[in-house]
Amino acid sequence: MTRVIAITGKGGTGKTAVAALLIRYLSKKGKFLLAVDADADTNLPETLGCEDVKTVGEVKEYLQAEITKPKPDNPDMNKESILKSKVYEIIEEMPGYDLLVMGRPEGSGCYCYVNNLLRGIMDKLITNYDVVIIDAEAGLEHFSRKIIRDIDDLIVVTDASRRGFRTAERIRELVEELDSNIGRIHVIANKVTDANREELIKLAEDLKLNMIGMIPLDPKIEEMDIKGIPLFKIPDDSIAAVEIESIVKKLGF
Ligand SMILES: Nc1ncnc2c1ncn2[C@@H]1O[C@H](COP(=O)(O)OP(=O)(O)OP(=O)(O)O)[C@@H](O)[C@H]1O
Ligand SMILES: [Mg+2]
Repeated sequence: MTRVIAITGKGGTGKTAVAALLIRYLSKKGKFLLAVDADADTNLPETLGCEDVKTVGEVKEYLQAEITKPKPDNPDMNKESILKSKVYEIIEEMPGYDLLVMGRPEGSGCYCYVNNLLRGIMDKLITNYDVVIIDAEAGLEHFSRKIIRDIDDLIVVTDASRRGFRTAERIRELVEELDSNIGRIHVIANKVTDANREELIKLAEDLKLNMIGMIPLDPKIEEMDIKGIPLFKIPDDSIAAVEIESIVKKLGF
């Protein structure tokens, strides 16, 4: 069975960093993994050290253009198989995992048809993997939900701010209210320091948030960020990488 994990939260809290750390850890543990960048503002490939990736958005634009061509130029093409082969073509095979980048949302016009085809293709594609990690957008991952139906674990990342925790609370309430296809919801506090740790634990309790980890503010991440070194290359003994190990265990791996 494939385990689908999506990561969301307020902007700038560290969603992409958490996604990259999870991808790094789980792929090292030998999980067959698909990493999905579902943020329109694509950042995950760079964080993983992967450049010049093609996006599903480009493939969709291509197919949309084909579909809307006048009939004589558009004989019986099998649209699903074209889309499928194009999506499989752009999957980037990285050492230890595969990467699929969604890219920018579609242009104007009705993409329902293409999106429906894509959903079917994604449903089949993800069954090939042990784990799918989705770096979603801030908020309630609208774009990714259009494409991937069922999410086993939604991880909401917050930084050490009340606003980040309030966003996490709103997302939890929304997930509970909607008849959503989300199995479980967890919160990770990121950029935690000794000075704010206790306060954050209390805040999570007050807001009834299921906090599965607290990733410290890691000078190594800051240093790598400034130097432009992909976070994927973080050393095993860095404080953030160590905490990820404990989070993965709490997720039941
Ligand atoms: N634990 C940490 N320690 C130090 N710096 C961190 C940590 N986590 C993330 N950062 C830094 O914080 C910044 C924002 O992180 P990131 O890009 O992962 O956030 P995001 O939530 O994905 O942002 P966006 O909403 O723009 O997608 C980056 O510069 C990243 O290197
Ligand atoms: Mg991001």
